[in-house]
Amino acid sequence: MSQKKYYIETYGCQMNVYDSELVGGLLNDCGYSITNDISLADAIFLNTCAIREKAEETVNNKLDSLQSLKNNKPGLLLGVLGCMAQNLKDDILQTKPYVDVVLGPDSYRKIPEIINSRNNSMDHYVDTRLSKFEVYDDMFPSRREGINAWISIMRGCDKFCTFCIVPFTRGRERSRSIESIENEVKKAVQQGFVEITLLGQNVNSYRTSGGDFASLLEQVAQIKGVKRIRYTSPHPQDINKELIEIMSKYENICNHIHLPLQSGSDRILKRMNRTYTKQEFLELVSMIKNIIPGCVLSTDIIVGFPGETESEFEETLEVVQKSSFNSAFMFKYSPRPGTKASEYTDQIDEEYKQSRLESLINLQRDITLLENQKNIGRTIDVLIEKDSKRSSLKWSGRTEGNMWVIFDKDPSYSIKDIVKVKINSAHGVTMFGDIVHSLEREKNEAA
Ligand code: SAH
Ligand code: SF4
Ligand code: F3S
Repeated sequence: MSQKKYYIETYGCQMNVYDSELVGGLLNDCGYSITNDISLADAIFLNTCAIREKAEETVNNKLDSLQSLKNNKPGLLLGVLGCMAQNLKDDILQTKPYVDVVLGPDSYRKIPEIINSRNNSMDHYVDTRLSKFEVYDDMFPSRREGINAWISIMRGCDKFCTFCIVPFTRGRERSRSIESIENEVKKAVQQGFVEITLLGQNVNSYRTSGGDFASLLEQVAQIKGVKRIRYTSPHPQDINKELIEIMSKYENICNHIHLPLQSGSDRILKRMNRTYTKQEFLELVSMIKNIIPGCVLSTDIIVGFPGETESEFEETLEVVQKSSFNSAFMFKYSPRPGTKASEYTDQIDEEYKQSRLESLINLQRDITLLENQKNIGRTIDVLIEKDSKRSSLKWSGRTEGNMWVIFDKDPSYSIKDIVKVKINSAHGVTMFGDIVHSLEREKNEAA
């Protein structure tokens, strides 16, 4: 009999990408191999997101489209995993009775049991119990691409921002031991990964008896073969001077911080339960830029939070301007049932949300271009990641700040090398340049 195959589609954030790789590892142990062709699969999993209404809509549409596949292949196992599974639980089965399995983010250890008992029983299986302890410490993910390895170091969130569903879908904060993280980093390096991204819903709330986030970062930075380290997503409240100093001390920790602002108005920040003021956020930005000059910042912003006035929105624009973020993820507020903000009675009309989003996107587009243009004439470290989509004669790679650069290939280097690239121009969100050879560099430096 040929080997059974699974297909997995991932929605939402990098934490889900990591979890899909964990699930892949479990399925490999059960004798399943991965396929990218959904029609060949014996088991299909959707690892879902619930952060905004649209995220759930996308999954619902996908599930609708899978019904006919399921009807034609009765033995096919269809599983819904992740945050939307956790959020909707059995309700998913009411509208979609052809779904077999619903598992929340803390229930993936159940997968082998489900697969193995599948032959005897075709019953539905739902498990959405959240755990205070589950960190999948002993499991190894089955990774796919070869540059960056995502490594989850903590799970859950205790911050309860009033707009956010994550504390409900991911449960309470818990951290993995430093030892198990180090083991996973070493294994990823052995497998050829050169960049490590440490992940958590609130990555810098990491805390174990072995140390806090800053000390974990320092230990990972010392592991041989790790060319670059990133982390996401931190909460501004948990960023301290010690962390920034560790970042500046180690060359392989990227000088890039994703620093979610959400809003620039103190009244809205308070209503969001974000625990910092506009002033404190701006002071944090200065502290970071003082210790790490040129540190690249990116952010997340929500427009149209309940009660947000036009002038409060303008304060957000002002903070965006002052912070000079290199890039930003920008969203219209989406009410999530069960969260505090969804019950506020002063919800903002869609047309205002849309026009505020457009103004913000336009402003950020100009800032991104301006920040990239500042690099023209500078020589920056770029990690070569792949062939450029524009030409097979060019490579594209990322800066420490996570921005893309395109440049001519050079036979003395290969993918996964870090090279010096002199930036010549910037268009949209991309920069263009040329590799600088060490000899030329020496000449430039001597001149
Ligand atoms: N833990 C991270 C964020 C995780 S969610 C942090 O604290 O920053 C990723 C982003 O989605 C958030 O930063 C926020 O900007 C956005 N988001 C979360 N809930 C949302 C909602 N209900 N509507 C619109 N955007 C939302
Ligand atoms: Fe959501 Fe706030 Fe937790 Fe981030 S810190 S995951 S926005 S509750
Ligand atoms: Fe979505 Fe869950 Fe991540 S809600 S953003 S997949 S933590």
